[in-house]
Amino acid sequence: MKICMIGSGYVGLVSGACFSDLGNTVTCVDIKKDIIEKLNKGIIPIYEPGLQELVLRNLKKKRLLFSTDISSSIRKSDIIFVCVGTPTKNNKTDLKYVINVIKTIKSNLNRYKIIVTKSTVPVTTGDKIAKILKSNKNKNKFDVVSNPEFLREGEAIRDFQFPDRVVVGTNSNKANKIMKKLYLPLIKKGGRYFHTSRRSAELIKYASNAFLATKITFINEIANLCEKINIDVKEIAIGMGLDERIGSRFLRAGPGYGGSCFPKDTRALVSTGRIFNTNLSVVKSVVNSNDNRFNLLLNKISKIMNNKIKNKNITFLGVTFKPGTDDMRESSSLKLIPALSRKGAYINYYEPTGQKKEFKSKNINFFENIRDACKYADLIIIHTEWNEFKQLNFKKITKKKNFKVFDMRNLYSTSEMKKNKINYFSIGR
Ligand SMILES: NC(=O)c1ccc[n+]([C@@H]2O[C@H](COP(=O)([O-])OP(=O)(O)OC[C@H]3O[C@@H](n4cnc5c(N)ncnc54)[C@H](O)[C@@H]3O)[C@@H](O)[C@H]2O)c1
Repeated sequence: MKICMIGSGYVGLVSGACFSDLGNTVTCVDIKKDIIEKLNKGIIPIYEPGLQELVLRNLKKKRLLFSTDISSSIRKSDIIFVCVGTPTKNNKTDLKYVINVIKTIKSNLNRYKIIVTKSTVPVTTGDKIAKILKSNKNKNKFDVVSNPEFLREGEAIRDFQFPDRVVVGTNSNKANKIMKKLYLPLIKKGGRYFHTSRRSAELIKYASNAFLATKITFINEIANLCEKINIDVKEIAIGMGLDERIGSRFLRAGPGYGGSCFPKDTRALVSTGRIFNTNLSVVKSVVNSNDNRFNLLLNKISKIMNNKIKNKNITFLGVTFKPGTDDMRESSSLKLIPALSRKGAYINYYEPTGQKKEFKSKNINFFENIRDACKYADLIIIHTEWNEFKQLNFKKITKKKNFKVFDMRNLYSTSEMKKNKINYFSIGR
């Protein structure tokens, strides 16, 4: 099949490369010329394990193409995936990128095409898109389908190739047949294909993300309670997770959820509730609780440092919102680092992706290895759960005698740390 992915970011690039690997001819387009130039040279603008090999393999076979000529790429394709960003503006989803793309598609509908929203869009957006595309000239030339994306950054290729489920929302049998054919290689490997209405597919995505955000927030609040009564939240999570109705995933206490999806999608869902006069009080309180977590963590750091943060060296190990990605969107480090710097701390950080990040504050230094970043640390904060932070010899990597460790991911055993006489603090323990 001939496919066009509009938007070559995390979703468009990963799913485009994966579709081409299944034998389709895929053109990934973007308005950013620099991204397309890089991709044509086989340089991957994002950090995603396994993506480079996949892109290079399919570039070589000429099944994967990159272009800034959006109109001609649309005209030669049968299925158009809309993969542009849907950020929130004033707590509502800003659909301007999606709408721009739809207008370009409208003027290039030369024959029947399926227009698929992979971008996360609020329920009823598909109806709006169909309305924009409709005109006498375009009659019978398109179907609008919702096919939300569930990939996780850092594990995106595996998630695409072995999906738990593929959700396709359309009331058109013709479009459904074509979509099922496209996904057949994944269905054959055990991925569940769930055909539903377009509106349902749109809401499934938001409801899923809000539910996962709720699970994380729930265990974070339980962790707050554990800290008061000297109980280990990890034990609580294990005990809860053994119940199959609950499950153990997304029950790890930490700095709160971040990333490009959960924060914006929970806010957008609350706003959708408002539009349709429905009080989504659970999701609302999840958003509030996660927002408040920043103050809680900042207070905890102050307490660990006996309220003496000025002129202290604080080292962050990892600054992204999770391991396996270079994505900084809504990472808790974006708030914590500037706040500590404003209190007079010197911040050093090591980032396993090797990328220096933009922090709008002073006295923040990037290091290319753990040792240099931790050498003079008064406090080491394990911020992101990368494997390389799981077996550190803290006494060897820092020269400071009375250094402290704040493990925001509970990677180490409290008793081991006590045995090694390390001033160790974690979450919910
Ligand atoms: N990142 C994830 O993990 C993830 C997972 C599931 C769903 N989603 C959803 O997928 C969508 C895309 O997310 P992302 O993380 O890939 O975003 P992104 O910001 O990484 O990529 C979006 C790309 O679209 C391009 N773009 C914008 N307008 C364009 C236009 N008119 N024509 C061509 N290209 C254009 C941008 O230049 C950018 O490169 C969002 O709705 C997001 O919520 C993201």
